[in-house]
Amino acid sequence: MSYNLLKGKRGIVFGALNNMSIAWKVAERAVEEGATIALTNTPIAVRMGEVQALSEKLNAPIIPADATSVQDLEEVFTKSVELLGGKIDFVLHSIGMSPNVRKKRTYDDLDYDMLAKTLDISAVSFHKMLQTAKKLDAIAEGGSVVALTYVAAQRTFFGYNDMADAKSLLESIARSFGYIYGREKNVRINTISQSPTMTTAGSGVKGIDHLMDFAEKMSPLGNANADDCADYCITMFSDLTRKVTMQNLYHDGGFSSMGMSLRAMNQYSKGLEEYTDENGKIIYG
Ligand SMILES: NC(=O)c1ccc[n+]([C@@H]2O[C@H](COP(=O)([O-])OP(=O)(O)OC[C@H]3O[C@@H](n4cnc5c(N)ncnc54)[C@H](O)[C@@H]3O)[C@@H](O)[C@H]2O)c1
Repeated sequence: MSYNLLKGKRGIVFGALNNMSIAWKVAERAVEEGATIALTNTPIAVRMGEVQALSEKLNAPIIPADATSVQDLEEVFTKSVELLGGKIDFVLHSIGMSPNVRKKRTYDDLDYDMLAKTLDISAVSFHKMLQTAKKLDAIAEGGSVVALTYVAAQRTFFGYNDMADAKSLLESIARSFGYIYGREKNVRINTISQSPTMTTAGSGVKGIDHLMDFAEKMSPLGNANADDCADYCITMFSDLTRKVTMQNLYHDGGFSSMGMSLRAMNQYSKGLEEYTDENGKIIYG
């Protein structure tokens, strides 16, 4: 159902890879709500992924860009303003990747070049995006920028690895830049802390299916899925949230405020044996 919440607005959506991507759902909902948008992802993701199909469906231009490259980001903002016919009203940062996670390097055996990449792709890219947009004055007064994050920024989750550090930095950038961009241009910047969600990036998280099951049992409203997340992003892009900025907004069915639920406790009581690896060694996860 459409409420015309984004009627006449122009947006840029970073990070739609396939139809499981949260950014994919946001792009669809934004257009449904009356926005015109540009899509962007890495050149390889544009070539290998399904974003072309989304572009055709939504009549949205694709501007390939590596979000760690300031030059590429300049191109994204300049071209988007040109193609969409004016300054940008909303931006979604939906980008995350850890080479350490991919290469199965544990948190006490990190490769530091890979850590630098994790932070650059998953967090510093957000700063680069904001700084580039501000220098080009590409975001309209009252614009709204959202980045997606995870509760592992505040609390430790087995297997989330150096992505936890990246998310902490991402959330801090939203606050620090939110002050400056709000003060000078009335642009608001927030992060949405989403439930675990089965996507390409999500499936890289160790034990994602068990994590999702645990989160589902812990959350009074159950896990928020990608469609729910898209709805929340739309409200943050709309004029209904004009005074919300520099916030980390939990969108997780209540998970982040829970200590223990009856459903999770019942499940836990079914299996109290220690968790062991293939050699019988206890894992203190
Ligand atoms: N899936 C979850 O459980 C979950 C939970 C909370 C937050 N998030 C966050 O949501 C966001 C979107 O992830 P998703 O779950 O939809 O997975 P996804 O794999 O569909 O999206 C990740 C995107 O990042 C893009 N990307 C990677 N490196 C890039 C680069 N250098 N430049 C530009 N783009 C690049 C990928 O191409 C991909 O489109 C991420 O920030 C993720 O951390 C996901």
